[in-house]
Amino acid sequence: MATRTQPTVFLTGATGAIGSRVLEHYLLRGSEVLVLVRPRERQSSEERIAAMLEAAKLPGELRRRAHVFEGSIEEPFCGLSRLDRRRVISAADLFIHSAAVTNLGASPEDCYRANVLGTEHALELARLCLQGGRLRRFAYLSSYAASGTARSGYFAEDSLPAAPFFANDYERTKYEAEALVRTALGRELPIVIFRPSVTVGDTKTGRIASFNLFYQVVRILGSGMLSHWPDLRERKVNIVPVDYVARAIRRGLQVAWALGRTFHLVSRNGCLLRDLFDLVKVFPYLRVPKLVPMAQWSLSLLNQNEQAIHRALEAYLLPYLNDLRLETRNAERLLTLPVINPSFLRRLMEYAVKAGYLPRECFAPAPLGPAEALA
Ligand SMILES: NC(=O)c1ccc[n+]([C@@H]2O[C@H](COP(=O)([O-])OP(=O)(O)OC[C@H]3O[C@@H](n4cnc5c(N)ncnc54)[C@H](OP(=O)(O)O)[C@@H]3O)[C@@H](O)[C@H]2O)c1
Repeated sequence: MATRTQPTVFLTGATGAIGSRVLEHYLLRGSEVLVLVRPRERQSSEERIAAMLEAAKLPGELRRRAHVFEGSIEEPFCGLSRLDRRRVISAADLFIHSAAVTNLGASPEDCYRANVLGTEHALELARLCLQGGRLRRFAYLSSYAASGTARSGYFAEDSLPAAPFFANDYERTKYEAEALVRTALGRELPIVIFRPSVTVGDTKTGRIASFNLFYQVVRILGSGMLSHWPDLRERKVNIVPVDYVARAIRRGLQVAWALGRTFHLVSRNGCLLRDLFDLVKVFPYLRVPKLVPMAQWSLSLLNQNEQAIHRALEAYLLPYLNDLRLETRNAERLLTLPVINPSFLRRLMEYAVKAGYLPRECFAPAPLGPAEALA
């Protein structure tokens, strides 16, 4: 590896929506990044990272700074061989633990193995990096949902609620994992905790490596899968651009005052569901459900198939629409919070259509008027 002017990073979860952006962010700024990756289907770990960095159009010399280590966070010491462990310990200045099972429908066992046990293994490896190497910071990717979204409430940054209300096992295990990290915080390891909200595409281009909850909801609401839906247009979900999350992580690992703190990486205003429904003006072929006032809402308005879709949507989306008031004092000191506006939402949709996630027949933009066509 070349002589270092930038920190060397050990990163788990590099193939994920956030992890892949963190990887790019550090590579673009001259870091060497050691990534823990598992093979998938017929692709080796190396092939997965090579394909990802090629898709991100990173120049060859930057791609060569990504060093792939095969392993799984579900194994002790993240499944690294002895030799690889020694290489990681001697090289890592920063350890960023981003890997997790994030599927809100995952089984309790899968969530536990990746999120709780996986975090124990990451902490175990980080301790070795501190004792035998050069580790300066351990970053843990938690979630604002770790505070439990099943009820409205106020979430502080530098603590977890004592009696949270969880909407699913993802939240429960992210809570348990963050609690584990917090026991090591300030005593054993130099820890910084980041809690992003629902992470969406890049501010300027809408680009994202994988399409999560937000996009799934948009696909259901815009593709004619539901004939009716309760009118929740005044409810909000907090979404945040992925480039901001990556920038905030890097900054949080640079500034001394961030040590031991927790950051809510969220947007200032969130996204009103009204703004999503208003996208009909831009994408006139959207097949949105007829909105029914809450007082008149009944499941019987939907056929059997729609009822199943509605129940899934309700289980995943409704908790996020609770009144979740998030402290952002630490995050605002780190970087200005991003603001969500309709043109950003439009970019997100356009990218998701281009990438083949949203159906083109519903998300085709309005034809240009004569004046726009000439502009
Ligand atoms: N995206 C969001 O909206 C959001 C919001 C709040 C918090 N977060 C947190 O931010 C972190 C990153 O999220 P993300 O959006 O990048 O997640 P993601 O897109 O679901 O990616 C998850 C990553 O974890 C890896 N992983 C899962 N199990 C693993 C295992 N046993 N061994 C090794 N790697 C494993 C996955 O690898 P494979 O590709 O091999 O499966 C993938 O790289 C997570 O901790 C998540 O809880 C995310």
